[in-house]
Amino acid sequence: MEATPGGASDNVLEELQRYVGFSSDDGEALRELHPIACAHFERIADVFYRRILEHPEARKALEGGESQVGHLKVTLHDWMGSLLLGPWDAAYFERRCRIGRVHVRIHLPQHYMFGAMNLLRQELSAVLEEALRDAPARAARLGRALGKILDLELAIMLHTYREDLLAQAARAERLATFGQLVGSIGHELRNPLGVIETSLFILKGRPAAAEDARVTKHLDRIGEQVEVANHIVTSLLDMIRSRPLVRAPLRLAEVWASALESVPPPGHVRVHAQGLEALPVLEGDAVQLRQVFVNLLQNAVQALGEHEGEVRLTAEVPEDGARRVRLVLEDSGPGLDPAIRARVFEPLMTTKARGLGLGLALVRRILERHGGGIGYAPTGGGPGGARFVVELPLTQEPS
Ligand code: HEM
Repeated sequence: MEATPGGASDNVLEELQRYVGFSSDDGEALRELHPIACAHFERIADVFYRRILEHPEARKALEGGESQVGHLKVTLHDWMGSLLLGPWDAAYFERRCRIGRVHVRIHLPQHYMFGAMNLLRQELSAVLEEALRDAPARAARLGRALGKILDLELAIMLHTYREDLLAQAARAERLATFGQLVGSIGHELRNPLGVIETSLFILKGRPAAAEDARVTKHLDRIGEQVEVANHIVTSLLDMIRSRPLVRAPLRLAEVWASALESVPPPGHVRVHAQGLEALPVLEGDAVQLRQVFVNLLQNAVQALGEHEGEVRLTAEVPEDGARRVRLVLEDSGPGLDPAIRARVFEPLMTTKARGLGLGLALVRRILERHGGGIGYAPTGGGPGGARFVVELPLTQEPS
């Protein structure tokens, strides 16, 4: 069965609905349950998030700490409302899938879903049993409907995790095929490029090169293009061969400075960095992390084109106890087209006339191998163009 992101009304859910036997009678039963249960939603939402906060591992998911809980309680309240009121149509399941994907995106381990759903099941069942103590047959009917819809909800949540796994597997497979092809082409190209470089060196030493400015100019141009071609081959090979990380204590401020040195931005682009100096020492591979900065910077500068603009890097250690560094890199360019945002970190994904679309794929790979990650998060208070959020784990005590 294929994962169909965005396709909540796909066969999987219809099949599940049939399997669980969720019928229009169940819908009616849930609507009967709503007026009985809704007075308890607030209390149940309290119990739900208190349980999360009591468990340090689950709590880690709440990035915004307790302040986020207030907002989430409201969303859970609405969630329970629509759970009992429906309509349980394709749009309903699509919205539920979207909620599921939010949990996948924040890397919430899926086992918490069982516990969380069970808590909701217990709380809502207790309300129902208490209110309908004198009408056991009705309580049983409403209870069955509640059981079915919560089973479906859990199945949707888990389905979104599976979707993500399938997408990851497909990506890995594409990378493997791509890697084999690229590896052989890359290696084959190294030889002719090496020969051109050697011949160029010899030609440059010949009297004709010194005597004729045009010859020198063209030889230099060939040299530059060989360098470009070599750079492409190196990026391709880096992409596929997972150079082992050489971890050592490093300061990101120094890594950033060295990236700026190697790709100095043109005069019409202002680059600001904030918060880097205050970051603690991290463990990582400075050369590969420098590549991360170089690629992100190059993308930002290219996005600005000939226009005046700015690139801004903001670094911080979020105060949520999650022990990581967060870097936000924004530019004042046009931003990424929403149609390609989801695929922007995939190899060969490019919108540029030149370039292979490896830069961001490599960036993600390097960050993931450091235990971190990168995402595209277009909202923020910055200059309004592309906005990438990079995270790296903190491995040492803040210094
Ligand atoms: C039955 C289980 C659960 C339900 C029904 C549920 C429901 C929801 C809903 C409705 C949202 C809002 C989604 C949106 O923005 O559209 C949400 C987001 C979120 N949930 Fe859950 N949740 C469940 C389990 C959990 C658990 C166990 C945790 C943490 C341990 C958790 C943490 C979060 C966080 C952190 C967000 C916000 C993510 C973000 O916007 O960045 N959820 N959840």
